[in-house]
Amino acid sequence: MHNDLDKKLRIERTLNEAKIMIHLRSQGLPVPAVLDVDIGNGIIVMEWIDGDLLRDRLLRSVSSRENVSIYRDIFYFVGETLGKIHDLGYYHGDPTVSNFIVDTTNRIWLIDFGLAGYSRDPEEWAVDLHLLFRSIETLIHEEVEKLKESIIKGYAESMKSFNYKRVLELVEDIRLRGRYIEKRRKIKTVW
Ligand SMILES: Nc1ncnc2c1ncn2[C@@H]1O[C@H](COP(=O)(O)OP(=O)(O)OP(=O)(O)O)[C@@H](O)[C@H]1O
Ligand SMILES: [Mg+2]
Repeated sequence: MHNDLDKKLRIERTLNEAKIMIHLRSQGLPVPAVLDVDIGNGIIVMEWIDGDLLRDRLLRSVSSRENVSIYRDIFYFVGETLGKIHDLGYYHGDPTVSNFIVDTTNRIWLIDFGLAGYSRDPEEWAVDLHLLFRSIETLIHEEVEKLKESIIKGYAESMKSFNYKRVLELVEDIRLRGRYIEKRRKIKTVW
């Protein structure tokens, strides 16, 4: 029984991930091409992207004291990619800088669709943006606002089916809720 359920879940998850990747790729998004799917074993064989994780690139720049504003173009494309995905009604679920690859020609690619889904609920889109912003803020401390600005510019350009400003308001709500919870936690520890 347990095994059956496990297998069913694995099949569902693998199918979900592969279907979303294939659909987004067919719409011209920078997602690795799916080459083969072994549903029973939960394996997706995909195109190999030769490059570095965006996180690793950023970390390298930070440690060599390089000005991170050189990432503004890259972050514009990151925002544009996420906006296009949301515009099609999908959310990624974990679009942090660890799930973007910058290839050898400086093009960005989005990977890891294990938590992705289809939803027209803007809250899901706001969570994506929130996770992306947080992943940058925890890595770098300078120029963060400029990089976020580039993301928002790209996002605004590609998110056509819904008012992107409304999504940004929801991002702010999520952020405030997070702060509120943190504050409550601190109060609790003091008590
Ligand atoms: N198409 C690809 N081309 C090149 N490298 C890839 C590709 N897909 C994944 N990787 C590499 O494998 C790592 C893990 O892949 P992925 O993010 O999809 O899985 P994960 O479940 O997040 O695993 P992890 O817990 O290691 O982050 C990525 O961080 C990246 O380095
Ligand atoms: Mg990952």
